[in-house]
Amino acid sequence: NLIMRSTQTIGVLVPNLANPFFSMFIKGIQQASQNNKFIPIIFDANQNQELQSMYLEELIKRAANGLIIASATLDANDIDRILTRNGIPYLLFDQNDAQIGDRVWVDDYKGGQMVAKYLLAAGHRRIALLVGEQVTQNIQQRIDGFRSVMKQYRLSLPDEMVVQSPMTKLGGYQATDELLRLKPSAIFAINDEMAIGVYRGFQERGVRIPADISIMGYDDIDLADFITPKLTTIHQPAFEMGQVATELLIERIQNPRLMHQDKQLPLELIERDSVIAKQ
Ligand code: RIB
Repeated sequence: NLIMRSTQTIGVLVPNLANPFFSMFIKGIQQASQNNKFIPIIFDANQNQELQSMYLEELIKRAANGLIIASATLDANDIDRILTRNGIPYLLFDQNDAQIGDRVWVDDYKGGQMVAKYLLAAGHRRIALLVGEQVTQNIQQRIDGFRSVMKQYRLSLPDEMVVQSPMTKLGGYQATDELLRLKPSAIFAINDEMAIGVYRGFQERGVRIPADISIMGYDDIDLADFITPKLTTIHQPAFEMGQVATELLIERIQNPRLMHQDKQLPLELIERDSVIAKQ
């Protein structure tokens, strides 16, 4: 019993551990857990709904004290039903919805606007958008923000300029030909992973970045600074997001009656070498 009480656990579900965004997020979770003497149990749900439900149930059975769920496939209402029934505090990440409990978030709408403004200021007009197949709330806002600026410029973003593929390097790579058919002068990849996949596709086909096509990403994962050309992107403070998410959750575990807390963290445009100004 004593042992049970001294090892409080937090269950963590992420959609893709191979994405450095989530590695940084988890490092942040680990740091804050350690500071508070909690142990995180981490699962990569592999964007697979059955697996996610299975892990969720196992975590409940093993009496996790709280959960952090970053999930593209689990429905927020389902999560709420399962976890509230079991009385487990949880924090949803990637769901920019103020109504559901505590949240840590960045202003993705503004992030999308920052990308559009940057590309338009560089003279790009024919811009393709590369997005995932399952769109979480935060990413939908990223897209909406991007569209809103296009509209201000009286430019439309027709459906045909939006390409969908898995939100991974491979997904980006597989979208190469479809992107090239659109003849864009610039591409906004909804995360850096996808952008890196497109880099390889372009390299294999002799398309030069940014001389032929400019690319912008989102997240600022470590790799963004190690590829050629260095990727211009939006920095998300993933480590801090993990830390803050964990702190909020632990406060909630320790004091279930606390008012809901809402922490917003800043985004920053990191200008590197993958976007060129159009003559
Ligand atoms: O690359 C992973 C993406 O999933 C990030 O942009 C983050 O915001 C999450 O939604």
